[in-house]
Amino acid sequence: MKINGKAYRTIWLAPDGWSVEIIDQTRLPHELAMVPLKSAGDAARAILTMQVRGAPLIGATAAYGMAMAIREDASDEAIDRAITHLAKQRPTAINLHWALEEMRRAVQNLPRGERVAAAYRRAAEICDEDVETCRRIGEHGLQIIEEIAAKKKPGERVEVLTHCNAGWLACVDWGTATSPIYQAHDAGIPVHVWVDETRPRNQGASLTAYELGGHGVPHTIIVDNAGGHLMQHGDVDMVIVGTDRVAANGDVANKIGTYLKALAAKDNDVPFYVALPHSTIDWAVNAGADIPIEERSSDEILKMPGRLPDGSVVTVEIAAPGSPAGNPAFDVTPARLVTGFITERGVCPASHEGLLSLYPERRRSK
Ligand code: MRU
Repeated sequence: MKINGKAYRTIWLAPDGWSVEIIDQTRLPHELAMVPLKSAGDAARAILTMQVRGAPLIGATAAYGMAMAIREDASDEAIDRAITHLAKQRPTAINLHWALEEMRRAVQNLPRGERVAAAYRRAAEICDEDVETCRRIGEHGLQIIEEIAAKKKPGERVEVLTHCNAGWLACVDWGTATSPIYQAHDAGIPVHVWVDETRPRNQGASLTAYELGGHGVPHTIIVDNAGGHLMQHGDVDMVIVGTDRVAANGDVANKIGTYLKALAAKDNDVPFYVALPHSTIDWAVNAGADIPIEERSSDEILKMPGRLPDGSVVTVEIAAPGSPAGNPAFDVTPARLVTGFITERGVCPASHEGLLSLYPERRRSK
């Protein structure tokens, strides 16, 4: 998608042909800065510090991290070490493990001399596939937005609420939750997005609003607690969120606060959709209760970065000095609260059978 009229992806191969560059998301929205990653260690740090974040982008960054690790040492032992190190940087997004296993599969049966080229090939494919997958998620989600728009009076906007950032900045391009929105906007459907600010790190206010603004999509930032009120007053036609991991029964792990939005949506008959690529489904985890939930630093709650009028970016303390803070980064929305999954293969009910209807190859033969 575009920033100031220029098309970007979130990660790309540098001109040297082996290192990669990323957009440093910790500096948005105040500064658009690119950062080089020159080793698997750099990739791991970028994932941990959330210079890159969002489940699909975490996977894509790990894939290039593996390519750089294999360039340094293509032995089986080094590959195992790099996978173990990268895998432990963020525990909830399953795309990280998916991408690492894809990288292992791409090289494991090859002679050492062929591994580097194969690894870079697979990492590039993972990025390109993510772009195409998200584009197709958008096509399927667009049909839902079109149906809602068809019931509106001429000129009335389709009101979408989203949480956190499941936009192109969370993926390689397009986004998951935002892809239907971009495609609806591009098709001339009047659409407006309520953007949850998404405490504590404010991915909604700083990233989703930034990218929607960059593409010209009308939007309004709201505090996380406003969504229920807006739904009660008929101001939300649908919710679309992304996800970090979907269990085989359709339970959804996503940014903390998603569950409360799903409860409010259910109480107000607002359709609640989750947009996801196949790489976010964890077929090995039966239910959401078994998904590991990342606990992050209390600093994210007790301190807040912001820009001063002179343009400098500073971090200030915002809480009672000495008070502790707890920071679970994700929650689990039970499948029963989800209207449907929007995937690259179509829309399905949020259930084991629903997922299998789109991914029949996952049906275990009896
Ligand atoms: O902690 P983050 O910023 O990595 O969390 C991101 C989210 O929760 C997104 O909504 C999710 O990864 C889906 S991204 C397409």
